[in-house]
Amino acid sequence: MRSRVFTIAITAVAATGLGLAVQAQKPAPAPTKVVVYKSPTCGCCSNWVAHLRTAGFQVEAHDVTDARLAAVAAEAGVTDNLRSCHTAKVDGYTVEGHVPAADIQKMLKERPKITGIAAPGMPMGSPGMEQGGAKDPYDTVAFTKGGATSVYVRHR
Ligand code: CU
Ligand code: CU
Repeated sequence: MRSRVFTIAITAVAATGLGLAVQAQKPAPAPTKVVVYKSPTCGCCSNWVAHLRTAGFQVEAHDVTDARLAAVAAEAGVTDNLRSCHTAKVDGYTVEGHVPAADIQKMLKERPKITGIAAPGMPMGSPGMEQGGAKDPYDTVAFTKGGATSVYVRHR
């Protein structure tokens, strides 16, 4: 009896191992593409782009004039109180400012009925705005084209 149970256990382990091996051979999913519109002279924009790439996003960055950037943001539903230094598009959503990659991944997973998310202003310590460990508390805010906003992720 005892040896039969043992055999079943071994078979289960072998089957699990096989399952993992098969999974590992599947091609990795294509990285999600983020299109970023940014100022050519802003260092923090480039740092944010680097943060996204490190997190596994494929980033296409466009340097545009301030006027063009303001137009892109306005068209995307980003109101003046939500503005920052760069505007990005990802999978139908808009991302304004120094939003952490993890918050973008959360939005893409949950797919809320919103226009996008923003980290208004230039919060110290947000991705791309690291200044020697200084950290401002800030919120990643969800917004809609109708002008509604709500806190999406708190960073304290
Ligand atoms: Cu910035
Ligand atoms: Cu920027």
